[in-house]
Amino acid sequence: MRIDKILANSGYGTRSQVKEYLRSGRVCLHGQIITDPGFSVFDKDLDSITLDGSPIRAGSYLYFCLNKPDGYVTAMKDDHLPCVGDLLPEHLKTKKLAPVGRLDYHTTGVLLITNEGDLSHKLTSPKWHKEKVYLVTYEGPALTEKEVQLFAQGFTLHEKGHEPEKLKPAQLTLLSDGQCRLILTEGKTHQVKRMLASQGRSVIALHRESIGSLCLHEGQKPGEMYALSEDEIAQLKE
Ligand code: URA
Repeated sequence: MRIDKILANSGYGTRSQVKEYLRSGRVCLHGQIITDPGFSVFDKDLDSITLDGSPIRAGSYLYFCLNKPDGYVTAMKDDHLPCVGDLLPEHLKTKKLAPVGRLDYHTTGVLLITNEGDLSHKLTSPKWHKEKVYLVTYEGPALTEKEVQLFAQGFTLHEKGHEPEKLKPAQLTLLSDGQCRLILTEGKTHQVKRMLASQGRSVIALHRESIGSLCLHEGQKPGEMYALSEDEIAQLKE
């Protein structure tokens, strides 16, 4: 396949962007600079293509970590509201990418976006126990050791009109009054808000800091995303 097509198909940019990378000498095959966008690469040599010295991932699957901004629906399309699909660059819109799990409209932070359906399925399955870390800003009396202990034991949510729901132990760290960090190993709908509501507090801002090993890169602004490296993908799949 043509080298410009391989790079574009692997999520590194539009065809014209990758042609520019090639022209400026950023792409190598077996250590030799390739500048011709039409240069043909055999399948066996795909692992030997580098961009800026790092091997590219020439597979069909793509993985991105988005810093979800406030005021976006976690969906690829929405008829009325801004959604995370709007934040994807044009050349990725045809790649069948989808968010893994869901953050509420006002929740910000780490959101994994991929087109590897199997991984998505695994990460949202109740069997997946990696930690999701949330920074929570809430209203109401300051949380205390009582809630720390309760959350650590795991407790059952009793909500009007709903079946009781048993929660796994969660790690609550008290920060300043009105702020805490909550680490969950499951992902029930609106779980953080419901846990705090059960204790008479209401969440006023929620930010997901990490999912397992995946966190935002330094300086990554709301709405920005980065492509996961081979290491980041491998750690997530561990
Ligand atoms: N828990 C919530 O209540 N909302 C989120 O967006 C994520 C976790």
